[in-house]
Amino acid sequence: MAEIDETAGVFTPRELVSELDRYIIGQREGKRAVAVALRNRWRRQQLTPPIRDEIMPRNIILKGPTGVGKTEIARRLAKLVKAPFVKVEASKFTEVGYVGRDVESIIRDLTEMGIGIVREEERRRVEVRAAKLAEERVLDLLLPSAPSKPGVPALSSATSDESPEDAESEPEAEESRARTREWLRKKLRAGELDDRRVQIEVQSSRFPAVEIFSSAGMEEMDIQFKDMFGSMFPKQTKRRSVTVPEAIEFYVKEESERLIDMDSVTRVAIERVEQSGIVFLDELDKIAGRESGAHGPDVSREGVQRDILPIVEGSTVNTKYGQVRTDHVLFIAAGAFHISKVSDLIPELQGRFPIRVELSSLDKDDFRRILTEPDNSLIKQYTALLGTEDVNLEFKDCALDEIAEIAHEINQRMENIGARRLVTVLERLLEELSFDAPEMNGTHLEIDRAMVRERLAEIASDENLSRYIL
Ligand SMILES: Nc1ncnc2c1ncn2[C@@H]1O[C@H](COP(=O)(O)OP(=O)(O)OP(=O)(O)O)[C@@H](O)[C@H]1O
Ligand SMILES: [Mg+2]
Repeated sequence: MAEIDETAGVFTPRELVSELDRYIIGQREGKRAVAVALRNRWRRQQLTPPIRDEIMPRNIILKGPTGVGKTEIARRLAKLVKAPFVKVEASKFTEVGYVGRDVESIIRDLTEMGIGIVREEERRRVEVRAAKLAEERVLDLLLPSAPSKPGVPALSSATSDESPEDAESEPEAEESRARTREWLRKKLRAGELDDRRVQIEVQSSRFPAVEIFSSAGMEEMDIQFKDMFGSMFPKQTKRRSVTVPEAIEFYVKEESERLIDMDSVTRVAIERVEQSGIVFLDELDKIAGRESGAHGPDVSREGVQRDILPIVEGSTVNTKYGQVRTDHVLFIAAGAFHISKVSDLIPELQGRFPIRVELSSLDKDDFRRILTEPDNSLIKQYTALLGTEDVNLEFKDCALDEIAEIAHEINQRMENIGARRLVTVLERLLEELSFDAPEMNGTHLEIDRAMVRERLAEIASDENLSRYIL
């Protein structure tokens, strides 16, 4: 099992940016900063101890107006890098009922992610062996081995054409069993036994209602409860009748669980979290501001910053898998920072985020591109949705220009909500159509500028109307 993360090195900064380009329009600086930070982790891992331990992650703050792609960058990044990754809203820690130590749950979640990733890697590694073992077990069921009492015929139904004579000598019986087994194996692999049912033993020990303990702040309790009651309640086995393919699937799972060495998974996962974990702290601006306590029942923002500080600075967090050090976990923060400023954060925290990147607000041309260019862009989504009703939508270029134009204009005139405006505009444009689509199947519909104008221009030009509708 590899000790360090091989996958983080797969992307060079240029490659990562070009991957992000598939989903996010513009925001070159933001993408580059994130890509460099990731590459630096990989570079650090190529080094050997004294210097390697000294190199701290260069945490990033992505700042910029609402709806320009901050969270989107994080979301896409999470899918691209195979490192343990969690995304949390910093504002969540200001909610009533949270206590300081809950920020450690970020690291516990990250560890959980790491375990998941490494376990999956392991599962894939033992897959073939598990499949073999599962096949043997199903064959055992179909053809029970070593008949202890000679009176009981071992074979069920169709397979026994030779008469089971008691007089048959041991080696001969053995041989014919082996032959039958291979014959069954062939049929099994050919899928000819797929309709057969077999009895398997399944374990049914579940401590009921564990979930009620897992509300905020009860996390640690939850951990202990599960372990405690898990062993307290005896495991019961139950027989279940399933089809042969179901039995195979069940045994593959069971065998791979047995083959996976959880101790080493845990060890590797913790290493992975410590060396390549990434935490995306969204809405960081919501906890900026140094006023204390004057905000109703909310926990003071400065208090939350102080709670977060240790994990950003590097501390040890207890998780159910063991202790996890956070010194080298990379933090990427994001926030609009239009009311509060980065300089409103406590100095210690500011110092921990040396890289600041300003995302730019989006203009008409960006909107136009966002509509169509990204993989699964909005236009592709709407076209696919209505396609299910057999309505074939075709957006003319001029219509797209108009949509972008209108969205941009409304953003200028009213609140600027960035690319989110495109969704409200499109919804409005297609509202009627979405409703009528089931009765329209088989139609091909061209959407052109005139149609967009007709449906939207009036609303868009009327300030009061658009405030409510768009
Ligand atoms: N540059 C962009 N390219 C493609 N899509 C974008 C871009 N910016 C925003 N979007 C789309 O707009 C929506 C909102 O973007 P996102 O959630 O990233 O906003 P944000 O910058 O995090 O804003 P906030 O500060 O309000 O959290 C997303 O669905 C995203 O797909
Ligand atoms: Mg966001």
